[in-house]
Amino acid sequence: MIKKIGVGKAHSKIILIGEHSVVYGYSAIALPLKDIEVVCRVEKADLPTEVDIADPLSTAVFAALEYLERPDENLTITIESSVPEKRGMGSSAAVAIAAIRAVFDYYDSPLSLSVLEMLANQAEIIAHENPSGLDAKTCLSDQAIKFIRNLGFSEITIDLEACLVIADTGIHGHTRQAVQKVRQQEEKALPYLHHLGDLTNVIEVGILAKDLVVIGTSMTQAHQELDKLGVSSPQANHLVNVALKNGALGAKMSGGGLGGCIIALCHNQKEAQSIAQRLEKEGAVNTWIENL
Ligand code: MEV
Repeated sequence: MIKKIGVGKAHSKIILIGEHSVVYGYSAIALPLKDIEVVCRVEKADLPTEVDIADPLSTAVFAALEYLERPDENLTITIESSVPEKRGMGSSAAVAIAAIRAVFDYYDSPLSLSVLEMLANQAEIIAHENPSGLDAKTCLSDQAIKFIRNLGFSEITIDLEACLVIADTGIHGHTRQAVQKVRQQEEKALPYLHHLGDLTNVIEVGILAKDLVVIGTSMTQAHQELDKLGVSSPQANHLVNVALKNGALGAKMSGGGLGGCIIALCHNQKEAQSIAQRLEKEGAVNTWIENL
């Protein structure tokens, strides 16, 4: 049965540790941001659905229509999103997931998690070229996850009684270019990627032991490695320094980089609010606080 309107939702994500090294098989830890959402609506249109193969939303809708064997359907797609685009918060994956859910809802067709993830990753290839799958997996999870490319993921309980400030530099990130930049460095990148992989393991142990100092220090070290790889940006470096000077336990860029967001680990809400205010004074265009 075709519904009048199909609706799909998805939430965003933030990478705690392991961006870029995850592409090379090291583990990464990422968190869903369940309150920062995308909603997609699908309705019948008079004109054919416009497909732009360079756009992840079009690719997601087209992949869903092909899967449902309705590639020639005329649809209007509207997106309502509180996830800023190209900031390392998983906007492309969240938009793709919401759109696929909306198309399946429109046709009242059942959608398994594995089909949803497979279709979302098809759209992510357009956005990211060679995605590790971390973004789609985290946008599909209600829990923090540890993810290893091609091997799978496990849910992680994060119960630190701490807070994470997310601050947007206001600059578009460029994941595809950043991934290419790392790849072009060939063997020169290997020690940095290896260290990032080690830091993910240290942070995982720190999460289990609820050791905020270990987690924070490792986050800051990871930022330094990402900066050496050339995927940070002057704005992200500035916000990381502001967070550290104002008492954060650790701070780093998050996501593909060359713009996008930074994250800062804070002892509690009060400290997080004061650091978020400071970051906004120092150029962040938006901040969010997540309880960890
Ligand atoms: C992008 O959000 C994360 C990267 O590690 C790329 C990927 O995992 O595909 C930079």
